[in-house]
Amino acid sequence: MPSWLKDAVFYEIYPQSFRDTNADGIGDFNGIIEKLDYIADLGCNALWINPCFDSPFKDAGYDVRDYKKTAERYGSNEDLYRLFDEAHKKGIKVLLDLVPGHTSEEHEWFLKSKKNEKNEYSDRFIWTDFCFSGSRDYPYIGGESERSGTYLLSFFKCQPALNYGWLNPDESWKCAIDSEAAVATREAMKDVMRFWMDRGCDGFRVDMAGSLVKCDDVKKTGTSLFWQDIRAMMDREYPECALVSEWSQPDIALKAGFHMDFLLNVHGGGYSRLIRDYQNNTDHNILSDPFFTGAAGIDEKGQYEDHSFFKKDGGGDICLFLEEYLNFYNASKGKGYISMLTCNHDTVRPSYNLTDRELKVFYGMIFTFPGVPFLYYGDEIGMRYLNLPTKEGGYFRTGSRSPMQWKRGKNLGFSDAEAEALYLPVDPAGDAPNAEDSLKDPDSLLNMVKALLKLRHSDPDLQADAELEVLYAEAGRLPFVYRRGARILAVNPGSAEVSVRLDAEDRDLIFSVGEGCLKDGILKAGPQSFLVF
Ligand code: NOJ
Repeated sequence: MPSWLKDAVFYEIYPQSFRDTNADGIGDFNGIIEKLDYIADLGCNALWINPCFDSPFKDAGYDVRDYKKTAERYGSNEDLYRLFDEAHKKGIKVLLDLVPGHTSEEHEWFLKSKKNEKNEYSDRFIWTDFCFSGSRDYPYIGGESERSGTYLLSFFKCQPALNYGWLNPDESWKCAIDSEAAVATREAMKDVMRFWMDRGCDGFRVDMAGSLVKCDDVKKTGTSLFWQDIRAMMDREYPECALVSEWSQPDIALKAGFHMDFLLNVHGGGYSRLIRDYQNNTDHNILSDPFFTGAAGIDEKGQYEDHSFFKKDGGGDICLFLEEYLNFYNASKGKGYISMLTCNHDTVRPSYNLTDRELKVFYGMIFTFPGVPFLYYGDEIGMRYLNLPTKEGGYFRTGSRSPMQWKRGKNLGFSDAEAEALYLPVDPAGDAPNAEDSLKDPDSLLNMVKALLKLRHSDPDLQADAELEVLYAEAGRLPFVYRRGARILAVNPGSAEVSVRLDAEDRDLIFSVGEGCLKDGILKAGPQSFLVF
C-alpha cells in the first residue's frame, strides 16, 4: 500500500476546462502547472486528471486513439512530464486516467483488428465469427469491417471492447481468460501503465474497472484475477504508485487489488441518499434521467420534495446511507480505501440542490470519513451545474464540465480567447462564484474546505486509516454522531438545534460550521452544523 495514501486528498481535473494558457479556448497542461500552488494551498496533495491522450473526443477522451501520446490540445508528452515534475516539487501526486475496457474505434489496434487477413490484433477486440451473428449479452456492431464478424461495444458506439476473455466461454468465438489473446491484451495494458509510471505518473484512476472479463459472475472472479495480476506488477515494480477504481463495489474492488474504490452517486445507492434524492421531476434533463433519480417525491401541491440527508430539513435518513456504507467499510477494512467524491465529471454538481451552507455540512462529513476523499474542480467554490447542450458525448454531464471560475473579468479568468471560442461557455450568472473572491471571504465554502483539510492533514485521526464508529444514527432523528480515533464528530443538517446523550467526557470544539458543544454527557449541535470535538 503506498504510504502517501493515508493522508491523500485528491483534486479531480477535467483538463478541457481547468485553465487555458495559450488562448485557444481549451485548458492545457501548462494551465494545470500554473495552478498547482492554488491546489496545494487548498490542501489537496494529489490529482486525478481525466483522459488527456490522443483521441477523436467522441466521449471527452474516454475514446483513446493512442495510449502513449498526449492530445495536442493539452500539450506534448514533455509538457505532461514537466507537470509530473512540478507537481512532485510541491508534494502533489498525479494520477492519470486509464481506460482499459475499450479504445477509440480509430485506435491503430482496432483498425488492424478490422482487417480480413489475420494479424497480431485480430483478437485484441471481441469479435463474433460471422457478419450476421451478434452477442446475446452485449451490444455489438456489424457491417463496418472488412472481416466477417461483429464486434462488441463497451460503452458508446465509438468504443469497441478490448478482449480480456470470457469467464465461461460457451461459443467458439469466445476466448478464455488465459487464452493467448486475452493475455496479450493484459500485457499490452501493462505496457501502457509502465510507460507512464516510468515517466513520473503516480498511478491511475481506472475507468469501468469491473467490466473487463465478459460474462463475469456477480463476484467478478475473472475481472478480479486480471486486477490481482496488475496489482502484483505494481507491488513489485511501482510500490509507491496507486490505483483507484471506478467500480463502486469496494468489497469486491479492493480484494481485486485496487488501493481505493469510488463510492459513486449511483441510482438507489446509499450515497445518492446524501445529496441527491430526486424522483418524478421532469423540469430538467438530468432529473428525468433514471440514472440519477432517487427516492424523493412530489407533494400534494405538485412541488418537488428533496429528502436527501444534507438538504436543510429534508428529513433525510442517514441510515439509508450507513446501511450500505458500513457493509462496504467492514468488508474493506485493512484491504484498501473507500473514496467518497464531492461529485465527478459524470455527475451533477452538489451545488445543484445544496446551498453553500448545506455544502459545508456535506463536505465536513465526506472529508472526515475514512478513506481517501476526492474533490471535483470548482466544487470548493460551489460552482454550479449549467444547463448546456451536449459536448463531446457529455449529454447531461456537460453541465458539470464548464470552465473553472478563477476571478472576475474576461471568461472568469479561465482563458484569454474570445468567449465564442471557448470549449464550453463559462457560467454567465452575475453572481457566479470565483476562486479569487472566495479566498478573500473568511466565510466562504473554499475557506471552510481549506481549514478543514488543514486540520485533517494535522490529525491522523481524521485521515484515511483511523477507525470509524457510529455513535448515534437514528432514522428520522438528528444529529448524526461518529467517532474517528479519538475525535468525536457531529452533523446536523436541520434548522433546529438538536441534542443527544453520549457516554463521553467534556470536550473542546476544534472545528465547526455553526455551533455546538459536548458537556455533561450531552452533545448539542446547532442549526446546520458540522462539529469536530
Ligand atoms: C466512465 C467515465 O467516467 C465516463 O465519463 C465515460 O463516458 C465512460 N466511463 C466510458 O469510458
